[in-house]
Amino acid sequence: MRVLLAGGAGYIGSHTAVALLEAGHDIVVADNYANSSAEAIRRVEEITGKSVDLFEADVTNHEDMRRVFDAKPIDVVIHFAGLKAVGESVEKPVKYYRNNIDTTLTLLEVMAEKGVHNIVFSSSATVYGDENDVPYVETMKKGSCTNPYGWTKSMMEQIFTDAAKADPEMSVVLLRYFNPIGAHESGLIGEDPQGIPNNLMPYITQVAVGRRDHLTVFGDDYDTPDGTCRRDYIHVMDLAEGHVKAVEYAAEHKGTEIFNLGTGTPYSVLDIVKAFRKASGVEIKYEIGPRRAGDVQDCWADATKAEKVLGWTAKRGIEDMCRDAWNWQSKNPNGYRD
Ligand code: NAD
Ligand code: UFG
Repeated sequence: MRVLLAGGAGYIGSHTAVALLEAGHDIVVADNYANSSAEAIRRVEEITGKSVDLFEADVTNHEDMRRVFDAKPIDVVIHFAGLKAVGESVEKPVKYYRNNIDTTLTLLEVMAEKGVHNIVFSSSATVYGDENDVPYVETMKKGSCTNPYGWTKSMMEQIFTDAAKADPEMSVVLLRYFNPIGAHESGLIGEDPQGIPNNLMPYITQVAVGRRDHLTVFGDDYDTPDGTCRRDYIHVMDLAEGHVKAVEYAAEHKGTEIFNLGTGTPYSVLDIVKAFRKASGVEIKYEIGPRRAGDVQDCWADATKAEKVLGWTAKRGIEDMCRDAWNWQSKNPNGYRD
């Protein structure tokens, strides 16, 4: 099959590119490099020994996307393209709604024009809100999001669901990611946030290479064994392999299906600090700070549906995640700028 990765030069897209190529699929990547660089795809080519059709394209722009779809026939689209910084989305909500919703509408319009019916969407566990109890199951009602970024995901899920209801030819797979961390085992590709990292693991790895002085742990007074929040961290290559299964499923089924992509095992912030120290041998200096606004105490998946329906489970453990995150960061202390 030929798969279009919209926003495919980013962190999850570049790892999924490797997994798809290794599974024998062809890929096309379209990205405007709002939060990535073409270097990631050059390295995907280096890892796989295969060449990738790469387009600099804005997914909100119909002409750009027509050019991409006209180049080669596409069987399935994966929609990774979006802005994802939770804090920035609170400060600049209109920018987030404009970009994220527009990418979705433009993709759906151009797909309809070009007769492409299958799409896999990067959603997030954030759509469960804080009304539901862990572990989160796909059958739960979505909750209230705590920030505009989360709402864009919730709204885009609705847009895709409605589009599939109206068009019996359509296949929509909504993937709710938990917390992807780690990197490809080669250390050639990995997470390369611009500016100060928002997320835990890139912050830890930047402390480890000396780019940041210390980690601030956001709150140790939660109702958990060590007082810090618990999350379902998943190795990005496991997540990438989940996309291969989702793409193959989307090509064979009609209608909308939702899948959690997580491990089902929670770790606290301090568990991650300890696991990273063990994997890297580097001591991570940290201080306890106040809670971060909008954080939920607990977030982990019931991952049984993906196992039953897609035949997918996460295989890599927390040691692999920490080792591979460190391997990437220590080989590329300044990310793709090295
Ligand atoms: P990323 O920022 O590395 O990748 C997103 C890519 O989309 C980037 O390459 C960016 O340049 C591109 N992009 C943004 N707007 C675009 C536009 N208008 N046109 C073309 N390209 C555009 O982020 P990621 O971590 O790889 O996340 C991929 C997707 O998964 C995002 O939609 C994100 O919201 C979602 N997601 C990520 C996480 C996470 O923790 N990383 C969790 C849940 C969901
Ligand atoms: N944390 C710290 N210090 C930091 C960064 C994070 O203590 O410097 C803590 C957070 O408080 C949280 C945990 O580490 O308890 C994980 O935080 P992340 O920011 O790495 O991840 P989140 O669970 O907050 O957010 C992630 C994705 C979002 C998504 C959300 C819910 O980044 O895109 O999961 O699915 F919306």
